[in-house]
Amino acid sequence: MPDQTPSPETRTRARAVLDALLPGVRDRAVDALGPVEGEGLVARLEHHHLDLLGPLEGLYVTDDVTLAALAGRLVGRVIEAAIDRPVALRALDRRREVDPGWFQRARMVGYVAYADRFAGDLSGVRQRLDYLAELGVTYLHLMPLLAPREGDNDGGYAVVDYDAVDPRLGTMADLEQLAADLHDRGMSLCVDLVLNHTAAEHPWALSAAAGDPAYRSFYRIFPDRTEPDRYERTLPEVFPDTAPGSFTHVEGVGWVWTTFNSFQWDLDWSNVEVFAAMLDTVLALADHGVDVLRLDAAPFLWKRAGTDCQNRPEVHLILRALRALVGVAAPGVAFKAEAIVAPQQLVQYLGAHERFHPECDLAYNNQLMVLLWSSLATRDTTLARVALGRMRSAPTSTAWVTYLRCHDDIGWAVSDEDAWASGLDPAAHRAFLSDFYAGVHPGSFARGAVFQANPRTGDRRISGSAASLCGLEAALAAGDTVQTDAAVARLLMMYSVVYSYSGIPLLYMGDELALRNDPRWADDPAHAGDNRWLHRPPMDWATADRRTDVGTVEGTVFTGLAEMARVRAGQLALRAGDRAELLDTGDDRVLGYVRRHPRGPRLVALAAFSDDAVAVPRHRCLPGFVGDAHAVLASPGVRIDDHDVHLPAWGYAWVVETSDGLTRR
Ligand code: GLC
Repeated sequence: MPDQTPSPETRTRARAVLDALLPGVRDRAVDALGPVEGEGLVARLEHHHLDLLGPLEGLYVTDDVTLAALAGRLVGRVIEAAIDRPVALRALDRRREVDPGWFQRARMVGYVAYADRFAGDLSGVRQRLDYLAELGVTYLHLMPLLAPREGDNDGGYAVVDYDAVDPRLGTMADLEQLAADLHDRGMSLCVDLVLNHTAAEHPWALSAAAGDPAYRSFYRIFPDRTEPDRYERTLPEVFPDTAPGSFTHVEGVGWVWTTFNSFQWDLDWSNVEVFAAMLDTVLALADHGVDVLRLDAAPFLWKRAGTDCQNRPEVHLILRALRALVGVAAPGVAFKAEAIVAPQQLVQYLGAHERFHPECDLAYNNQLMVLLWSSLATRDTTLARVALGRMRSAPTSTAWVTYLRCHDDIGWAVSDEDAWASGLDPAAHRAFLSDFYAGVHPGSFARGAVFQANPRTGDRRISGSAASLCGLEAALAAGDTVQTDAAVARLLMMYSVVYSYSGIPLLYMGDELALRNDPRWADDPAHAGDNRWLHRPPMDWATADRRTDVGTVEGTVFTGLAEMARVRAGQLALRAGDRAELLDTGDDRVLGYVRRHPRGPRLVALAAFSDDAVAVPRHRCLPGFVGDAHAVLASPGVRIDDHDVHLPAWGYAWVVETSDGLTRR
């Protein structure tokens, strides 16, 4: 099993390979970029060489392929990408080399949207940047936008051309223009990169199907069921309901590995040509101006019989090597891992192994997301406190992205160990959460739908928009104004945690207007088989027009979230990259944690998962506060007196200590 930490022998070999490469690299780089930029590139190669050469040796060196030859080939591509990199992007690289924590700043607030659903196409998105600025957004994640297959394409996650933008959305030039516009406003652009599979109609797959051996070895294709059966003994199913199994029989081709849908063919990353081809895509997207690449389905890249074929050590080597190569060509570019995996597997994607090795810069904190929904249903934060408290910290140079909803379903990734430690039966709790959010549990306020029920494991994931899961759909349908207010309060309270727990908060399109489930989600036949479209509604610009009217639901939520972003930007303690320290607030209904920064006041965030008002004692929830406590952000009705912090039902507050008098507004 490849080790993440290079042995002394690997270090020696890597140094020798580097030394042999350097003169040629220096000549080419200095010649093309001049002495200052050229030397910078050389320095970056030296800096990253071990994170590049160590993994490459572990993954791809064979009797026929030497490390020197492989490194020479890949580094050659990287140098050309660095030379081709537009001047404006190189300037951004220089800024980010000075400020490598650029993505950790408290001003970072993300917005996640489908370009077409948000604004028609990429130029439409450019017209809406003022809207995003109003919300305090500084980081825009557009859902997959490279050319997908026709018909059902899993929301763009089945790509036929990695070099072209989906023609319905625009062109590469439009993407470059959007990136430039964002950069002018101090915003950054995140784009999806589907690494694990291509569409069955991708030219590589078509060549493979036509029998070209070079392309057949881009995929995992078996002549009969022997191997698939062997793998399936330990493989979990991702889409058990709509795409059961992990292999698809293709007439005249064989059994193709398809982890997701039958039209998504898994690439074989043990083939170095796949690595090289994807490296080209990564470098090209970087040079088009993309700041952050969301590496879709990263845990699935490597397969080994007898395992669940997720989170294999080789996956981390692949990500490290890619990261190192991009770090040489485009040091301003960051990687975001989409690894929706068990809590104990998560932090490794940020490079936290037995030792730290730079890997992805960002990763989704799906634990926090799941635990917020769990706490909302139970009105009890014990499980959240236990599970979050046990999570390993993100390495200081990295950050989580925190979120409440995304385009995917919610899977109840609660570990058995954490559940038992919180006094819960794990299977029963997961079943309760599914019932609650499907709206079938007695007294549930939520209106979601079960996604991919798996009778074998009892798993039932949940689709639904944040607002509908928070109770707004049911309350409005019942014309119940008290419940409507409660649902709005829940939504804002949940986002107050997303905006203050350690990481970059991501706001999912439509949540800022409390958009409910899309009743017409199945109208498009290409969507009808996938109820995740329930929570992928088209943007409702008529509703958005009322965003400043605080007499409306949308106005309350929009202005509340815009205020959160504004306050967040001013609090050093809310920088990402530092751990949130969980508190025992003295009341299990109240989640509390401390955020710190050496140069600013500490901040305590409190969130009440409670149907009733709660008072939590100051000595528990504001420990060590000697000066005045001042709420820089608070839901209506929050009050701090000498003894307690009073939170209304579903209330929240961010409290700082003002003994130095500097932070009082
Ligand atoms: C990721 C995406 C999901 C997609 C899958 C296959 O998990 O978030 O939407 O279905 O990858 O690409």
